Amino acid sequence: MIGEKCFVPCTPAGVVEMLRVSGIETDGKHVVVLGRSNIVGKPVANLLLRKEHNATVTVCHSRTKNMKDITSTADILIAAIGKPEYVKSDFIKEGCVVIDVGINRVDDPLSKKGYRITGDVDFIDCFEKSLLITPVPGGVGPMTIAMLVKNTLDSAAGNIYEK
Ligand SMILES: NC(=O)c1ccc[n+]([C@@H]2O[C@H](COP(=O)([O-])OP(=O)(O)OC[C@H]3O[C@@H](n4cnc5c(N)ncnc54)[C@H](OP(=O)(O)O)[C@@H]3O)[C@@H](O)[C@H]2O)c1
Repeated sequence: MIGEKCFVPCTPAGVVEMLRVSGIETDGKHVVVLGRSNIVGKPVANLLLRKEHNATVTVCHSRTKNMKDITSTADILIAAIGKPEYVKSDFIKEGCVVIDVGINRVDDPLSKKGYRITGDVDFIDCFEKSLLITPVPGGVGPMTIAMLVKNTLDSAAGNIYEK
């Protein structure tokens, strides 16, 4: 939060790295973060507030009123609430970049395991309207693991992760 060099939490670091490598500009953009947990919502909001990212960040939580009015102004929406397929297309504006952090297990009698993994975003509903959207599984999850490996290597090498 105060900008000192430190190891950055893996999931928030993965989200920011994903935006960077995808060429998504954050400077001056409105980022709406759904969720204020200590492991995702708060750190990702703080990272994007840093001067190297310069986003205008709004954080929503379970007591936020008129949430759709806020999310529909987002250039980038980051969902981390743990509610399966909660975010529908009427939450987002045309051309929004949607990052789905959620990992939720839902019953699925058609699957061998009897369940499937889904995000906090209704991917199919939001796909057409979004500029870019991350899948679940296969989006933020692997980025989290990549950042964990990076932090581990940096730790072993005595480096401090600076992104
Ligand atoms: N992809 C990954 O690598 C990764 C890593 C970590 C977590 N996750 C997933 O990300 C999701 C969130 O994880 P977490 O640990 O941050 O969860 P958490 O600690 O349960 O926090 C959930 C947050 O969402 C808010 N919230 C809940 N329902 C809401 C609603 N209907 N509208 C607005 N806000 C709502 C809560 O608000 P209050 O504060 O008011 O209760 C809380 O701040 C989970 O599905 C988790 O499995 C994925």
